[in-house]
Amino acid sequence: MKKVNILFGTVYGSAQYVAETLAAELQEQGYQANLLAPDENVDFVPPENELLLVVTSTTGQGDLPDNILPWFESIRSTAPYLPNLKYGLIGLGDSSYETYCGAIKQVDALLEELGAKAVVERIEIDAIETMEPEIEAQEWLKGFINATG
Ligand SMILES: Cc1cc2nc3c(=O)[nH]c(=O)nc-3n(C[C@H](O)[C@H](O)[C@H](O)COP(=O)(O)O)c2cc1C
Repeated sequence: MKKVNILFGTVYGSAQYVAETLAAELQEQGYQANLLAPDENVDFVPPENELLLVVTSTTGQGDLPDNILPWFESIRSTAPYLPNLKYGLIGLGDSSYETYCGAIKQVDALLEELGAKAVVERIEIDAIETMEPEIEAQEWLKGFINATG
């Protein structure tokens, strides 16, 4: 059974809800979904034989929320080489900000630097366009499942 580790960064809870929804859907589709709580994620180095899913909103001016920032900083400073890691990314943002979806873009750039490969292109979900980011995320998940199942 394929295992998917899921990390989320949120300020107001939307990205967490999206992550929980996708975890449930992945379980239903026969994956083992491991949703990491923020206090579990700090030193988490994604195993290369498992999939990684990151769901994060953007705060401040293109910044990562406080509950995923320590993980990001830790991975950036230890810089493990992860050429066999496959990942998918979901960003929540608001296109009225110039720094639209800055957080997920930072995560994408970092993972790419570490040699990891996106299995499908990241999705950026705009709060101006939808009040239900989990619906768009579930659509995107179909592509992720097709590419990894
Ligand atoms: C103080 C504040 C700063 C924000 N900064 C950005 C930003 O720089 N870029 C962006 O795309 N969205 C930004 N947003 C919008 C949030 O990312 C968006 O509303 C998101 O859906 C919130 O998800 P969450 O509930 O998981 O935190 C900001 C929102 C607030 C309240």
